[in-house]
Amino acid sequence: MGLEYAELLAAQKVNLVLAARRREPMEKLAAELRQKYGVEVVVEPIDLAVPGAAAHLKGSLDDQSLEIDILVNNAGYGLHGDFLDTPLERTSDMIQLNITAVTELSFIFGQDMAARGAGQILLIASILSFQPVPGFSAYAATKSYVLSFGEALHDELRPRGVTVTCLCPGHTETGFDAAASAPVSPVLRFLTMKPRPTAATGLRALAKGKASVLPGFMNNIIVFSNRLTPRSMQRAVMKSVTGG
Ligand SMILES: NC(=O)c1ccc[n+]([C@@H]2O[C@H](COP(=O)([O-])OP(=O)(O)OC[C@H]3O[C@@H](n4cnc5c(N)ncnc54)[C@H](OP(=O)(O)O)[C@@H]3O)[C@@H](O)[C@H]2O)c1
Repeated sequence: MGLEYAELLAAQKVNLVLAARRREPMEKLAAELRQKYGVEVVVEPIDLAVPGAAAHLKGSLDDQSLEIDILVNNAGYGLHGDFLDTPLERTSDMIQLNITAVTELSFIFGQDMAARGAGQILLIASILSFQPVPGFSAYAATKSYVLSFGEALHDELRPRGVTVTCLCPGHTETGFDAAASAPVSPVLRFLTMKPRPTAATGLRALAKGKASVLPGFMNNIIVFSNRLTPRSMQRAVMKSVTGG
């Protein structure tokens, strides 16, 4: 989805900083976007799961006198499988990226934005934020954190001129399943969205100043149905949909 945010923002003539671990795909994307849209693109290879990564990234941008107006807090991944059968280091690494890095990046760049009285932060939660999900127990819990954190920050930072929006994608065709070692059930395949409309929904909601948004009609039906069903049923349904 990061590719899509980058392209959609570049099309609006927004200059970009790309941050992820692998330099090569970012350099390739940067060259394409510079040529296609005439924007400036800086590439910052960084492992955001390393403690202190957010401060390190901020330091590197300060050295280049770069200010961030829009933070898309997109880096994250899932882990599918039984909690006790998953090596603890993998779960801890995921929590570090999905929760700690997201929190630190929001703090560090949010402070700058609040001092300027303007800025936008997009956080990426998930449809799994809305109920516990056996088979994705720790991942779904990290995304519940992101949604709760993001909606609260939305209210806290609004008076300081900073918009915070939480995008809650449903299943989207990206590298997510491979990274999570997750199977794709036939129901999940039916519900799968393309990354472009998912990312576009997030950026539109950010521009409109919404607290949170769920892309896709079916995803909205699923989350709405949670209001009508017991939590035990929500867990069972999500477990079977996500192939647990
Ligand atoms: N796809 C879905 O169904 C879905 C649904 C709901 C929410 N989400 C969320 O959407 C976000 C984007 O995921 P995606 O679906 O686009 O998956 P993806 O295709 O696997 O992309 C993940 C991105 O995060 C970067 N990344 C991973 N670990 C990193 C690290 N330690 N440090 C810095 N960058 C790192 C990856 O680049 P490098 O590998 O180069 O680091 C890649 O650009 C995630 O937060 C995910 O939880 C996805």
